[in-house]
Amino acid sequence: MNREREKWGSKIGVILAVAGSAVGLGNFLVFPGRVVENGGGAFMIPYFIAFILIGIPLAWIEWSMGRWGGRQGHGSGPGILNAVTQKPYAKYLGSIGVMGPLLIFFLYVYLESWILAYIWYSLTGVLSEAAQNNTTGELFSRFISHEKSIGPIPASLFFFGLTFLINFAVIYFGIRRGIEKTVKVLMPLLLFLGIALVLKVLTLENLSEGLAFMWNPDFSKLRDTKVWFDATSQVFFTTSVGIGAILTYASYVRKDQDIALSSLTANSTNVFIEVIVGGTIVIVPAVICLGAIQAQEVTTGGIFSLGFITMPMLFQEMGPTVSWVVQLTWFVLLFIGGVTSSISILQPGLSFIEDELNLQRKKAISLLGVITLFFSLLIIAGGDTAINEADILGFQLALLVFGAVEAVLFAWVLGGKKGWQEIQKGADIGIPQIYRHIITWITPTFILVLLFFWAYDGGMEHLLM
Ligand code: PHE
Repeated sequence: MNREREKWGSKIGVILAVAGSAVGLGNFLVFPGRVVENGGGAFMIPYFIAFILIGIPLAWIEWSMGRWGGRQGHGSGPGILNAVTQKPYAKYLGSIGVMGPLLIFFLYVYLESWILAYIWYSLTGVLSEAAQNNTTGELFSRFISHEKSIGPIPASLFFFGLTFLINFAVIYFGIRRGIEKTVKVLMPLLLFLGIALVLKVLTLENLSEGLAFMWNPDFSKLRDTKVWFDATSQVFFTTSVGIGAILTYASYVRKDQDIALSSLTANSTNVFIEVIVGGTIVIVPAVICLGAIQAQEVTTGGIFSLGFITMPMLFQEMGPTVSWVVQLTWFVLLFIGGVTSSISILQPGLSFIEDELNLQRKKAISLLGVITLFFSLLIIAGGDTAINEADILGFQLALLVFGAVEAVLFAWVLGGKKGWQEIQKGADIGIPQIYRHIITWITPTFILVLLFFWAYDGGMEHLLM
């Protein structure tokens, strides 16, 4: 632990890395599905409320605890929470911040590999042909049930292996040479591709129908607790907070460097890309081409069907050449978002092995590789049921539980006053005082109440089934 820990090379580097972690499958596959499912514009009100009361403050909490722990040589949940609170029990609670990200990774990397396969199917024309023949659904189900192959290997496993290697190749080169360099190239490219797609969508006929669906709220929906629950868990997932990923990234920030503005910049970039880019590219064409009602049915058939089955069909309506380009751009955009997120999900585990178990980098990466490969393969073998369990446990529950742990330890054990001072250290902006009260009272209470509702609404049963 006495060894000198790596540090980010530049402020823009860490901002892009955190934005890269945040922008991912959640923005382009999950968010549009949730908006359509929850009645369009109505979803946006709880979404923005949750963003302001949980997303922004919890990110500040994670950044400041991470920077603090990093000063003392810790880079993951157990060490950081212990260093900040000086309570031995915090170590055990902190371990959720290592297990949670691993659980997310087992599934996330598999989903990411579907996208790589779809880049291949776009390039080879397989997907366009399926779209012309109305068989994108069949292609998707054959692919995920391992019936499609590349040579002697099932295509699903081939692309999984490749995606897995890409992730490990990036983290092998470390924070500065691996992650920072990668995001500096990929994030601007992602933004460029995203805006190009938005401009294309804005030329569609009947644009106003799609936009109205996204932006005209139906206030009666606000009485539905599910809308609130979905909006809040989406904010957690999309901003990457409540799981320890940001904690680890922030542990590589220099001790006197700003976190207040950096965190806000990364967070706002993510929300912009989610709401404007993700929302527009997917929802507007879906509503125009299929009609809102049908789009709703499409997403209830599984959130991922929207990206892999419906989108290629929608692109088809743009004519053969344009549709090919747009389709390829869509999957490349998704893949970039996926990789810059999954490398961040690997970091807490890696940092735990390096900093707390004191293993050398190469050994730490090999150990992490073996563990994640084993469990990912287990999920692949377990099929739909395993994917569902990992989704609920990892993508939803772990985030809320660890987010509650962080908020409570920060606000009530460390204390709002000390916490507030830590957030403001080296800050490049003045944060409004009101946030001191939000962080101390509203953020922890909000998450605890939400967890209660989750359990009350049958969440636990769902998990035990
Ligand atoms: N925020 C990422 C996305 O939107 C997912 C993620 C969750 C990444 C938790 C890191 C930690 O896809």
